[in-house]
Amino acid sequence: MSTSTIATTAADPTVAAAASQFLSPVVLGLQGLTLNGKQAHWHVRGANFIGVHEFLDTLVGHAGGWADEAAERIVALGLPIDARAQKVAEKVPSTGAPAGFAQSDDVIAGIVKDIDAVIADLDAAIDGLDEIDLTSQDIVIGIKAGLEKDRWFLVAHVAA
Ligand SMILES: [Fe+2]
Repeated sequence: MSTSTIATTAADPTVAAAASQFLSPVVLGLQGLTLNGKQAHWHVRGANFIGVHEFLDTLVGHAGGWADEAAERIVALGLPIDARAQKVAEKVPSTGAPAGFAQSDDVIAGIVKDIDAVIADLDAAIDGLDEIDLTSQDIVIGIKAGLEKDRWFLVAHVAA
């Protein structure tokens, strides 16, 4: 029987810690977007109801998938992430999603505000990871491309 030990991760611990600093806010922001996106999905009313209602669910699904991707990058680097609900609530700014039933224009404006807060963290991560870990940066770039596409799909419901 082998007695050799297998390293938990191939990553340098210093690199892992630094990369985690940039990936963690992205995970928390995307987890928050899944919650607030559902809130918006349930309460939207008015113009383009079906399109907005259904697309908000698509966004929620994407955000959850991206959160998973970023979180699992941290774990692959050998570190844990604390994305318990309380930590998400501490990190995520007050949502733009209105409380209760709201017209689709207001719901879209609110969720776009939430998306933009996540994009700001993605931009910071792309900059910060450039000299730390290109593999993590690649993941974040992919998430940003997807989120900006979803932002377009949402805004197109109300854009002139
Ligand atoms: Fe639903």
